[in-house]
This record gives sequence, structure tokens and C-alpha cells, in this order.
Amino acid sequence: MKMSIPKVCIVTGSSSGLGFLTAKKLVAKDFHVIFACRDEVKTMSLLQKMKEESGRSNFEFMELDLSSFDSIRRFVDDFHNKKLPLNLLINNAGVHCKTFKKSNDGIEYSFAVNHLGHFLLTNLLLDDLKRSSPSRIVIVSSKLHNPNVRHGNPPNFKWNLDEINNEMEYDGMIAYKNSKLANVWFSYELARRLENTGIDVIVICPGFVPTTGLHRDVNIFQRYFMYYILSLFPFARTEDFGSECEVFAAISDTLNGKTGVFMSDMKETRSSEESYNVEKAKRLWDLSEQWTHQNI
Ligand SMILES: NC(=O)c1ccc[n+]([C@@H]2O[C@H](COP(=O)([O-])OP(=O)(O)OC[C@H]3O[C@@H](n4cnc5c(N)ncnc54)[C@H](OP(=O)(O)O)[C@@H]3O)[C@@H](O)[C@H]2O)c1
Repeated sequence: MKMSIPKVCIVTGSSSGLGFLTAKKLVAKDFHVIFACRDEVKTMSLLQKMKEESGRSNFEFMELDLSSFDSIRRFVDDFHNKKLPLNLLINNAGVHCKTFKKSNDGIEYSFAVNHLGHFLLTNLLLDDLKRSSPSRIVIVSSKLHNPNVRHGNPPNFKWNLDEINNEMEYDGMIAYKNSKLANVWFSYELARRLENTGIDVIVICPGFVPTTGLHRDVNIFQRYFMYYILSLFPFARTEDFGSECEVFAAISDTLNGKTGVFMSDMKETRSSEESYNVEKAKRLWDLSEQWTHQNI
């Protein structure tokens, strides 16, 4: 794989799972990597260990809680104060909440973190990415956004916050799928808006990786089943493979000039029919602006 090497990269949710491995691999490839994470103590202890093992120091922690618009704005202000370029943004952080909870801003948590937080963060960093172009944005979605991928009820996107926040009708898996469908709509609409700016947008599924913390909400028996049994099935992927999918989407030269494409198993592939609905993607964009109090 021939690589072009951008210099500065932000990886959200790089304190565990696929995000941590992705960020670690980019450190080894000489990027200056910003670990954009919510838990300073946990992340700093990982970074300290990484420093001792690798002898490298081309990385740093910056606090980012995607469930809080204030935290996102603080993160961007702090990043701007560093006067760094920005060549690569990887929107990796994600949650699957079995039970209903709300973000700091009063919005259903998985939609707030997986879509709205990344929507705001990305838009606040667009000028940085433009100045450093050619640059790339990788958005980590999931094949589960596609109703044809059978795994419980299909996504059923809600178009107003009252519905999104309806605790009585909450189904954690549907909320997760909806947020991942929003990731794909957002990616395609972003790619259309960024045409000819030198910023490419790639949206990916890293594969089903049952050993990460994504399903930490499940009970101990389900966790055991996922970790020790499901991980042996041929459709399961390893954390190493999942992070390799992220790294490939982030730096492979074969993707230069490609934008608004969905990738699975490191191959360009079609996403769900619904995800290509341009009107819905635009509507989500407009609503996301309102819900994040943004005029972009
Ligand atoms: N694992 C799979 O089977 C699979 C399949 C398809 C797609 N994906 C996607 O892959 C991405 C990575 O997931 P993973 O499997 O590696 O799960 P993971 O191990 O749970 O990692 C998720 C990361 O997101 C961070 N995060 C959660 N809430 C956050 C918040 N409010 N602000 C900032 N960061 C936050 C977590 O931080 P903490 O360490 O502080 O909790 C963690 O670093 C997600 O977008 C997920 O939807 C995963």
C-alpha cells in the first residue's frame, strides 16, 4: 500500500477499541496524532505506556466530550490556539446505549455523540482542513445503518427532537442504527458541499468487532458470549482488522480524489438505498444546524 503522509491528525474516541489502535498506528506512521477523548486519566495512562514502549512523542491528549456542544467548542478553540495544520480528521467515537439517557444538551445520547457532536466538530474544523488540503475526513459508520443487514429491527429515523427524545419508545439498537444512518447521510452531504475544496470524505464500516467496548452496556453473560464465542465466527473481525480499515480509509493513496464513498472491508461498496436520498441528507443537515445552534 503506497501512502501519502499528511502531518496532523485528530482521532475522536481514541481512548479504547478501534480508535486507540487506529491512532497508535498513525503515530507509528509519523503523524502528529491528537487523541481527542473525554477521559483524561484513562487516555494519559495509555499514552504514557505508548511512550515508554515506542519511545515516540508525536502525540498528545486533548479533552473532547462529544455529548457536550460546549466541550466541542472548547476543544476547537484549544486546537486553534496550537496553530497546527489539520490534514486528517477521523470521526471514530461511538456509543451504543442499551438504556435511554440524554447528553449534556438534553438530546438522546447515541444520536448526540455519534452524529450531532461529530457534525458540529467537523464543521468547526472545516477551515483548518481547507487550509491544509489535500486533506481527508473519515467517518466511522456501520453496515447496521442498512435495513438489509439483518440484526433486529431496521433503522427508523426520527425527524424531530421530541421523537428522538421519546424515552417510552426507546430501543437502543434502533437508536444506534439511526445514528449510523445519519453518519452516512452526513458524509454524502458533506462530500457534496466540499466538492473542489481539496477535502475528501470517506465513510466506512470497520466490520463487526465483538471484543471492543461498544457493547459495554450489555449484561455479563452477553458480554462473555460476544467476547469469547461470537468473536470465533467467520463474520467477526479482529480489532486489528477494524483499525486497519480506518487507517486504510485515512491514508491509502488509492483513495486520492475519491469522496462521498462508502467502504467496507477496505473495499468501496454501496451503502443502503435510503442513504443515497439527497433530500433526506439535506434535511438532516438543516436540522443538525438548528439542533447544534449553528449557521454554517
Ligand atoms: N465494534 C463494532 O462491532 C463496530 C462495528 C461497526 C462500527 N463500529 C463503530 O466503530 C467506532 C469505534 O467503536 P469501538 O467498537 O472501538 O467501541 P469502543 O471501544 O467503545 O470505543 C468507542 C470510543 O468512543 C469514545 N466515546 C464514547 N462517548 C464519547 C463522548 N461522549 N465523547 C468522546 N468520546 C466518546 C469512547 O471513550 P471512553 O473510552 O471514554 O468510553 C471510546 O474511546 C464507533 O463509531 C462504532 O459505532 C464498531
